[in-house]
Amino acid sequence: MAGSAQAALLGLLPVRAHAGSARIDGLIARMTIAEKAGQLSCFNDEIRPVGAVFNPVVDPRGADAMLADITAGRVGMLFNGYGVAGARKAQAAALRSRLGIPLIFAADVIHGCRTIFPIPLAEAAAFDPALSERAARAVAEEASAGGLHWTFAPVVDVARDQRWGRVAEGAGEDVLLNRQLAAARVRGFQGKDLRRADSLLATPKHFAGYSAVRGGMEYAAVDMSLAELRETYLPPFAAGFGAGALATIASFTDFNGVPATANRWLLTDVLRGELGFAGVCVSDYDADRELIAHGVAADEADAARLAILAGVDVSMQSGLYNKHLPALVESGKVPMARVDEAVRRVLALKEALGLFDDPFRSLDAVAEKKRTATPAIRATAREVATRSIVLLRNAGDLLPLPVKGKKIALIGPFGADKANLNGPWSFAGDARDGIDLATGIRAMLADPAALAVEAGSGIHAPLAGGIERAVAAAKAADVVLLAIGEAGDMSGEGNSRTEITVPAAQQALAEAVAAAGKPVVVLLRSGRALALEGAVSDAPAILCTWFLGEQTGPAVADVLFGVREPTGRLPVSFPLATGQQPWSYDRRSTGRPAADADPMEPGRSHWRDAPDRALFPFGSGQGYTRFALAELQAPARVAKGEAVQVRVAVTNAGLRRGEAFVRADIHDRIASRTRPVRQMKAYARIALDPGERRVVTLAIPYAELALVAADNQWRVEPGAFDLWVSAGGEELHSQFEGV
Ligand code: BGC
Repeated sequence: MAGSAQAALLGLLPVRAHAGSARIDGLIARMTIAEKAGQLSCFNDEIRPVGAVFNPVVDPRGADAMLADITAGRVGMLFNGYGVAGARKAQAAALRSRLGIPLIFAADVIHGCRTIFPIPLAEAAAFDPALSERAARAVAEEASAGGLHWTFAPVVDVARDQRWGRVAEGAGEDVLLNRQLAAARVRGFQGKDLRRADSLLATPKHFAGYSAVRGGMEYAAVDMSLAELRETYLPPFAAGFGAGALATIASFTDFNGVPATANRWLLTDVLRGELGFAGVCVSDYDADRELIAHGVAADEADAARLAILAGVDVSMQSGLYNKHLPALVESGKVPMARVDEAVRRVLALKEALGLFDDPFRSLDAVAEKKRTATPAIRATAREVATRSIVLLRNAGDLLPLPVKGKKIALIGPFGADKANLNGPWSFAGDARDGIDLATGIRAMLADPAALAVEAGSGIHAPLAGGIERAVAAAKAADVVLLAIGEAGDMSGEGNSRTEITVPAAQQALAEAVAAAGKPVVVLLRSGRALALEGAVSDAPAILCTWFLGEQTGPAVADVLFGVREPTGRLPVSFPLATGQQPWSYDRRSTGRPAADADPMEPGRSHWRDAPDRALFPFGSGQGYTRFALAELQAPARVAKGEAVQVRVAVTNAGLRRGEAFVRADIHDRIASRTRPVRQMKAYARIALDPGERRVVTLAIPYAELALVAADNQWRVEPGAFDLWVSAGGEELHSQFEGV
């Protein structure tokens, strides 16, 4: 399959290889093989550690030994340290090495650095690439001021199995949204010019297919068709690379039996050949050594050989390249040309960042003070948090709540909790800076005493007398806010679950509180879609509040009391039951689909105890008003070079100003391979006053009609397409011919 064809269909710019420079050529000519291996080695920063990162401790050596290794030319880059003072020390040590090649400082800045933003999944719910770009820019400004050049983000793994913990880190289940946010986040992190001191190099990861692990279990095997890889999992990488990202990390997992880290087809033929990637491919943490546990490498030297020959340019944390590349080259098992290619890529990265000209770029103590935790970045974090919230149900217009005249009981383990605002990978954030729900809500009330707060339960275990106190508080209130869900450490890396439900102790609390008879608003905290049950799934109002980071309290309060309208939409489908996983709204058609009218018809596709449906599918979410759709217009025929121009009239049929989310999905009726039953291809937002009507135009580029055909080539197969346009609960259908 021609990668250029895919790139052309997806409208990507070709990624240009770094032109190289006399400086880089000169350095490579002077480097010993040991110095080359050093440039290809990346280690956890023990000079300025941040403490709680996820990774296990592997070969710790302490700050002094690390500084000595840097000066000996055995370290190309450091990661997961923070702060300018320590970085300057490390950089000075690098400049004292024989060739004085500067270090790069990287980190997992996944959703904020010092100021913690909503998890990426939450931010994806905003369906707003411009907002994601703005957020990434703000994060980059702060992170780079703290002595960082490079983030190991964005995660662009399309996530269709909610049991997998790292759903939290990416943009959810949809390909288009993942593509758009990959590009937006790369643009935001990197800014206009990589050489600027506030630019942060981006790393779309993990290449590739990581999220499709068997059973949703972390690090498990990945098997999929190549068409599935190309249609679903590669396009977000292509978009991130097209936006200028110069780094990626290879997946921990295997791909159709060959671990990514040793998979030359994946890391060279596909990554370089099909996607045109010209940057640096880094192993994941210790993943080259893990080739031994995978059972494909005999020993460490073999693991290093497999990794570098596959296309892993940089070894993360294991130290295997330092230890074994010299002998592997000496014995002829690894050609020097391959080592030089990898070194050239790493030096090109350092050159692109301007580090040879200014090794102390982004290491300025004055900028660190000025650009860390500023009111401006906090305001951006709050805006993103507000836009991330999704209102899934609002029976009887229970929300928004009035700021006076009602007694409110805030019940649940997350009501007055600061420890679980941030979720996984809250890099250098300080939980004490977070604003909890109780504080945010109280600040909004005319009479702060109108809020009663009861934990009612622990996160995993009941509290003695907790339910009794919670029920009493509910009875004394006019409305209950039930703050329940997952703890911060229940999603993220290594946190796959077999049951994606609210923990049992909290479910018991929810049942008891609901039985008190007062209207309940669920404030659901999670790092994935959950299978809601009982009183939680039946609650009259449900707000998805994910992990919103530092500004959780104010953002939720703004939406609860109608200062802001909820505008988020689900980036992942909330299933009816865990057993439906993996599931996505754009699943492929079957030979025995169930009819909409009778989803449980015997002999048709469904489970014995659940239909092939979600409780709240991808895109669900509502605001505080209603919209009506009319007059859908689409062209009868669409030819190459054209777009499907869709027009539809949207009217605000409610009583409040609000933002309509208008979306177009298509389905290719007859194709050489089975097609998604529907797939989102365009969306737009429009703010309307009550009674206001406007025509919205959505354009679906011709290339979006393409598929990986049965012969494994990207192409548009001529024929009829269904078209659905929806807003709020309304949907209109039409069709067109792709020719
Ligand atoms: C994760 C990566 C991360 C790396 C460095 C690994 O465990 O899979 O996403 O960038 O650690 O912290």
